[in-house]
Amino acid sequence: MSKLFSPITIPTSDGDGLEVRNRAFIAPMCQYSVTARDGIPTDWHLAHLGSLAQGGFGLVSIEATAVEARGRISPEDVGLWNENQVETHRRITDFIHSQGAVAAVQLAHAGGKASTGSGFGGTTTGSLDEDQGGWDTVSSSTRPTVPGLKTPHALTEAEIAGVVRSFAEAAARADEAGYDVIQIHAAHGYLIHQFLSPVINDRTDSYGGSEENRTRLVREIADAIREVWPASKPLGIRISGTDWIAGGWDIEASARLSEDLVAHHGISWIDVSSGGFVGPDGTVDIPVGPAYQAPLAARVRAAVGHHVGHGAVGHAVVSAVGLIEEADQAETILTLGTADAISIGRAALRDPHWAGSAAKALRVPARQNPIAEQFARGGW
Ligand SMILES: Cc1cc2nc3c(=O)[nH]c(=O)nc-3n(C[C@H](O)[C@H](O)[C@H](O)COP(=O)(O)O)c2cc1C
Repeated sequence: MSKLFSPITIPTSDGDGLEVRNRAFIAPMCQYSVTARDGIPTDWHLAHLGSLAQGGFGLVSIEATAVEARGRISPEDVGLWNENQVETHRRITDFIHSQGAVAAVQLAHAGGKASTGSGFGGTTTGSLDEDQGGWDTVSSSTRPTVPGLKTPHALTEAEIAGVVRSFAEAAARADEAGYDVIQIHAAHGYLIHQFLSPVINDRTDSYGGSEENRTRLVREIADAIREVWPASKPLGIRISGTDWIAGGWDIEASARLSEDLVAHHGISWIDVSSGGFVGPDGTVDIPVGPAYQAPLAARVRAAVGHHVGHGAVGHAVVSAVGLIEEADQAETILTLGTADAISIGRAALRDPHWAGSAAKALRVPARQNPIAEQFARGGW
């Protein structure tokens, strides 16, 4: 009996829950492949995400999907900021569903880390000027999010309300596009994290200073999405469990925020990543190694694992991510109760059929292997 290949139910506000066929989830991964720069996913996204669904993953998430054009990391990012973008997303979710997987979208705003190059073909990963297709960026403050990036404009309270609306409008489009789950991107130094972390947020209004103020934006976004996102569909979030910087956002703040989001703001899935900023000396010391972020997931799970709010039934789902690459490693994290699901990133870039391979390694009988039937002759 493999835990990794047992189904999991993500609670929903209507009480029914969404069943996912297994606990191998795809972590969102930017592909910088919208060559037309219009935010509309391309055949690349269909082929890439389609192969992951064929490969047996339970939940397949598309990359950071911008809720505003200025919220793209690069001009080649996918978006859901207008109606023209919905149809091609729908093609992708239809295919993911045809393979028995759940389709997730990560709604994102890069804030002060927007308007950068993809780095493809040896081009820059730094800030792009207007003549290179770049734009002016926004953040909680004027502090550069990463040294060397352009100085962002500090959003006014009225502008913050506009960002909250953008998340809700994108969520409504995500529903139209057939996504089953939204993951709010609140990690990795992007806009929401720029509000959460005192490393960047130096505001003195109701969005800065105290922890309650710094977490206001994410709570407002969750509430606004909840108003338009069906009660039958789970709402998730990705957080950076810690900045790994003294005086920054830390794991205890993450545990408190997670508990509040689950109890009062309709969140039932938390993916626990980390990092995104550098310290005052321009560096950050992250203890990177196998499953290095799993202890952060364990702390969040201890805070939220046994209750959910909003009328939802079951346990909030917590997923661990980061250098979890082997089937038995993933299985152990689940059986120890460190997390409820595993998000896989780079290992799935190397092997889009990672889930099928992992099921085989864990001796899941061939007929229960989630790999697409057409590939069964491959010896799973
Ligand atoms: C090519 C690439 C693109 C990524 N894009 C995103 C993204 O869009 N959103 C996000 O939250 N994380 C992104 N990440 C981080 C991954 O989701 C994941 O957290 C990270 O790679 C660690 O997991 P892994 O060791 O399994 O790869 C990206 C990572 C890679 C390698």
